[in-house]
Amino acid sequence: MSQGVGETIDSLLREGRVFHPPKELVETSNVKAFMDRHGIGSYEELLERARDIEWFWSEMVKEVGIEWFEEPKKVLEWNPPYVKWFVGAKYNIVHDAVDKQARIRKNKVAYIWEGEPGEVRKITYGELYNEVNRLANVLKALGVGRGDRVTIWLPMVPELPIAMLACAKIGAIHSVVFSGFSERALLDRIQDSRAKLLITADGFYRNGKVIELKSRADKVLGEAPSIENVIVLERIGLDGIDMKRGRDYWWHEIIKGHSRHCDTEVMDANDLLFILYTSGTTGKPKGVMHAHGGYAVGTAATLKFIFDLKEDDIWWCSADIGWITGHSYIVYGPLILGVTQVMYEGAPLYPEPDRWWSIIERYGVTVFYTAPTAIRMFMRLGEKWPARHDLSTLRLLGTVGEPINPEAWVWYYKYIGGERCPIMDTWWQTETGMQMISPLPITPLKPGSATKPFPGIEADVYDPNGNSLYKKNVGGYLVIKKPWPAMLRGLWNAEEKYIKTYWSMFEGIYFTGDAARVDEDGYFWIQGRLDDVLKVSGHRIGNSEVESALVSHPAVSEAAVVGKPHEIKGEAIVAFIVLRSGYEPSEGLKQELREHVAREIGKIARPDEIYFVTDLPKTRSGKIMRRVCRAVLLGMDPGDVSTLANPEAVDVIRGAVGR
Ligand code: PRX
Repeated sequence: MSQGVGETIDSLLREGRVFHPPKELVETSNVKAFMDRHGIGSYEELLERARDIEWFWSEMVKEVGIEWFEEPKKVLEWNPPYVKWFVGAKYNIVHDAVDKQARIRKNKVAYIWEGEPGEVRKITYGELYNEVNRLANVLKALGVGRGDRVTIWLPMVPELPIAMLACAKIGAIHSVVFSGFSERALLDRIQDSRAKLLITADGFYRNGKVIELKSRADKVLGEAPSIENVIVLERIGLDGIDMKRGRDYWWHEIIKGHSRHCDTEVMDANDLLFILYTSGTTGKPKGVMHAHGGYAVGTAATLKFIFDLKEDDIWWCSADIGWITGHSYIVYGPLILGVTQVMYEGAPLYPEPDRWWSIIERYGVTVFYTAPTAIRMFMRLGEKWPARHDLSTLRLLGTVGEPINPEAWVWYYKYIGGERCPIMDTWWQTETGMQMISPLPITPLKPGSATKPFPGIEADVYDPNGNSLYKKNVGGYLVIKKPWPAMLRGLWNAEEKYIKTYWSMFEGIYFTGDAARVDEDGYFWIQGRLDDVLKVSGHRIGNSEVESALVSHPAVSEAAVVGKPHEIKGEAIVAFIVLRSGYEPSEGLKQELREHVAREIGKIARPDEIYFVTDLPKTRSGKIMRRVCRAVLLGMDPGDVSTLANPEAVDVIRGAVGR
């Protein structure tokens, strides 16, 4: 970084400056048009008017052009913690995402897809319709129907959204498993949802290497009796894929002869659309459930107002569809709005660190949405990489997944957005399904703050007794006080956990699991997770998930996993391990344990550091005190340790980390 530039960033940070959006952007924005139509004169007035959530979300239904098969009888039925939106409506999200688009935007490109090796495919809405329908007919022929679960383990190829939409079309519930997860993680999710069918691929490209999928799925399918059939996409053309007769079918073969027309199943607006597993505080990921109607309205409305998408925008969300960000903002939201988007298969730095900027230039991306961890990585690599490309088509930027540090914010603003593009720092979760706290293009920005709740969202920060800390600038529990359309409909097969995790901290109020403060101007500053969930490169990983993977190794007796601040990833994973007798600490064993976790969960969960210890601090009831391990690791005061069953273990940890 040149010195002059470094100085500018420093001074921007020091000033604590508020960044006002460009006038033209404000004047031409979707949200401003909405306000004008309703005689709303200011941002504050908009937020105030939207407190009538039934009015606001009914307006959003019109705003994003939802076409019900049968109109709702009621906007909302709220029996905490259960919600129904658009009660009585008959609907299918695929109608708005695909069927309608094929009617009105048949020749418009839905996806511009680029494979890591460089091939490009453009898929129009008309083609998307044909492919979704053909696969939907295949699924039906294989006996998949309403309410059946289908697990999808596919890389970032157009067939991933096609597979999801084909399921939704016939009323089946999809459960997408991130392609970077391991086959054990795949198996857990298949078993938990008792999926009937698996859709996967031979493999995919990542960093110039081939990552196999089908051959790895085969290793665990013996333990998944619910799976009756497997559809395999030929992405790479790998030799020697073992196709089990009568169970496995190649996508391109089985699709032959199937019609490009398939009736869209008429669902209730509150019927389930998908399950997406996410990490919580226990070793077992939880299946977050979302429904057709409310989710359609919530994702499309936020995208239209926050990212201001219009007919000729080129939208690129760099997330993987295996996470909620991709479900909501690569698949459903953008398709409902009928936009053209970019989808990229591979690694961001392949073959050179300017791949992303070259994609933005070549396709003329106008609105770009990524994660703080990626921005920090690019910042470290230096501005010479984006400087090689013309990024002047960009008009708006976004981030999601973890708090963005002001320095990264300012770098993104300056070197990617050319100081023209406001940054939408969107706070939300797998559970919320849609962006919840975020600027709009009309919002003055403070770097590092997700600013204010979206209209219709009532967020607050509570002290432990449920008193509001709004505008007090004091940290507390981030809560949502009223239901929202894309709200989760529960956890698959885990009702008690649903109530306990989200609804028991404060009666009838959704607890997010995050800490936050609200400043004097009503701006929200998210401080991070309060529960034992790590955020590694923006991805959620449960401490106990990594611990249970570790203790499943024969050498490990006990494990405590904690997070440690990391410059790029946000958090790094650190494991303290007590070995079983007969095993000796060694570098080789550390490596083996790291690989073991990668096999059990996926590479993203691999511990960055491992310490072998002889004891772990525990309560008298035997609970391992991660908090104490973490405090010692970070050189902080571990607090009163006299109540521990084994206070001497604190010194063991000190010795291990050299504190
Ligand atoms: O801690 C918050 C953090 O990510 C969590 C949700 O993770 P996940 O369900 O994986 O969804 C991520 C993508 C929507 C939240 O509880 N988080 C997400 N966005 C932000 C954030 N923290 C601060 N600022 C954000 N913009």
